[in-house]
Amino acid sequence: MIEIKDKKVNISSKIFVDGGDPVETEKAKSLLGFVDGQTTNPTLISKNPEVQRRIREGGKFTREEINLFYKKIVAEIYKITNGPISIEVYADKNTKSEEMLNEARELRKWTENNYIKIPITKEGLRAAQKAIQEDIPINMTLCFSQEQAAAVYSATKGAKKPVFVSPFIGRLDDRGENGMNLVENILKMYQKGDGHVLLLAASIRSLDHLLAAIKLSAPIITVPLMIIQEWAEKNFILPKENFNYRPSNLKDIPYKEISLEKDWQDYEINHELTEVGLERFSTDWEKLLG
Ligand code: E4P
Repeated sequence: MIEIKDKKVNISSKIFVDGGDPVETEKAKSLLGFVDGQTTNPTLISKNPEVQRRIREGGKFTREEINLFYKKIVAEIYKITNGPISIEVYADKNTKSEEMLNEARELRKWTENNYIKIPITKEGLRAAQKAIQEDIPINMTLCFSQEQAAAVYSATKGAKKPVFVSPFIGRLDDRGENGMNLVENILKMYQKGDGHVLLLAASIRSLDHLLAAIKLSAPIITVPLMIIQEWAEKNFILPKENFNYRPSNLKDIPYKEISLEKDWQDYEINHELTEVGLERFSTDWEKLLG
């Protein structure tokens, strides 16, 4: 049971803000009365109004400047949320695990409660394995399959801090697959596990996505301000007993019986959308650099 704007609401999910602008976080907090945490990514930071203004005026950033800017934004967001903030390592298809790990070590120092986003690729999982040995909190991102979530579970066994895994719902929907099925499938698969990985429902594009994730009791849901505003306008409605999220235009993603006991290297972790996602994040970042 939580309290949203003086209204007692029976949900178990933590609500994060998905964005790259502290002004949005502040607005979300004033609507909800709280914010449990925040997720950022390179694309979201590149859309920050200050960054956009500079680019419109023909300016660019050096790598150091954009990192300092990201750090400043994260510090401002942390003041508002006081909760975990996910910050993404730079990674393209050639980035090695050591580079991700080195960056993770730096990013974790930015505030007292940072989660470092690392992509679910072979190199990313190698970096994650080492990161947990150093107690670096991690959010394994760009998750598009149950196998990837199983690999995250296996690679991070023994982590002292909860590990997040972020299935991207909207991006699966975009190509005609029901991304919410993936959330449901991962949650079901993780019931067999020890609870060290928490699902963070990401790429939420509609109020129905939010309601469906609440209905599934996703441990964490990261929500863009626009959807929080729509939720507030609808007086924070909750999914009814008979709420069934099955859009007819989306193909079901069936549940697979997958053991969580294998070595992470034995799972099929390649997914086209992870590659596309990496490409998009790195291109959006590189575009800011002069
Ligand atoms: C959050 O962690 C994700 O990076 C974000 O939700 C992705 O959303 P998008 O698919 O709308 O870009």
